[in-house]
Amino acid sequence: MGRTIVAIVAAALALALGALPIVLALVAPGGLGGLAPADPASPSGEAINELYWFVFGICAVVFVAVEAALVLFVLRFRRRPATPVDAEGPQIHGNTRLEIIWTIIPSVILAVIAIVVLVRTPAVHATGGDRSDELVVRVEGHQFYWRYVYPDGQISLDTLVLPVDRAVKLELVSYDVNHSWWVHELTGKQDAIPGQMNELLLRPTKEGTYDGDCAELCGVLHAVMPTTVEVVSQEEYASRVERLSGQDQAGHAQLALGRQSWERTCAKCHGPAGEGDLGPPIAQNGTLVDAEALRTLLDDGLDTPGIEGYMPPVGRGWPAFQIEALIEYVRSNDDLAPPTQDGGGSG
Ligand code: CUA
Repeated sequence: MGRTIVAIVAAALALALGALPIVLALVAPGGLGGLAPADPASPSGEAINELYWFVFGICAVVFVAVEAALVLFVLRFRRRPATPVDAEGPQIHGNTRLEIIWTIIPSVILAVIAIVVLVRTPAVHATGGDRSDELVVRVEGHQFYWRYVYPDGQISLDTLVLPVDRAVKLELVSYDVNHSWWVHELTGKQDAIPGQMNELLLRPTKEGTYDGDCAELCGVLHAVMPTTVEVVSQEEYASRVERLSGQDQAGHAQLALGRQSWERTCAKCHGPAGEGDLGPPIAQNGTLVDAEALRTLLDDGLDTPGIEGYMPPVGRGWPAFQIEALIEYVRSNDDLAPPTQDGGGSG
């Protein structure tokens, strides 16, 4: 009787442990409460989903068959009360037919999986359809933000705007360490690494806002390096990008770029008002409005041995007009602007 209780407790524990990954998956992002990939919003996403469910289906059948056989054998061949504990079971010396069967079946299953995956995988990395009007956007990974550069030089940080139903090529690069761009609904992840350009091809097919992450541990603020992709109609895309700051925009647009640069780059470490957070306070620091000093700091970062505090080269690759925009924003912000000779920021 005691043994039965032990067996039941052991079985319950095993079940609980087995269920743990499923419970953990339920709190992860994705479809079906984390058990499945996200709902696809592009042909790449659809291909990922198809492959996932294909492999999942085969695994589910194998899992159920193996577990059912296990339970069946446990019940069928258990020791009966009349049998002595030390009784020997029947001595079996192999079964050639059985061994051939259980070698062939898995081989066939693996071959089928391999063929389907090899045939279908190229669709993950493809736009599907016409690529003649392909939109090329440069995606730069930086510690700790994403910088998007549109074909005419407009810039946005952390949020990427894309037109629906148009082929898109993302050119991924990094200016410091390895990052990985991953917007679950749109496509698979792709690394942004220094010294090499990687490509991601996709075609968003549903308007909407899609959240993504940096999927490569890249430093202390890796967790605050998410990204958002807004897929909008082709007309709205044109007007949205036009309103983004480019080199020749008027002061108003410059200010918008400066604000983005402050909020998405500086403020993540130094606090929204430059009051200091992970990084030291920098509000009203003269370097913020000194183009030359600022350029050097943003290009090189701070990594002086013996001096506490590391700052990544956060503005490496910024054109001069983005630094000017940042300075203009700092000057416009009373919390941030250093006192001038006539006292106070320019308001
Ligand atoms: Cu960039 Cu993690």
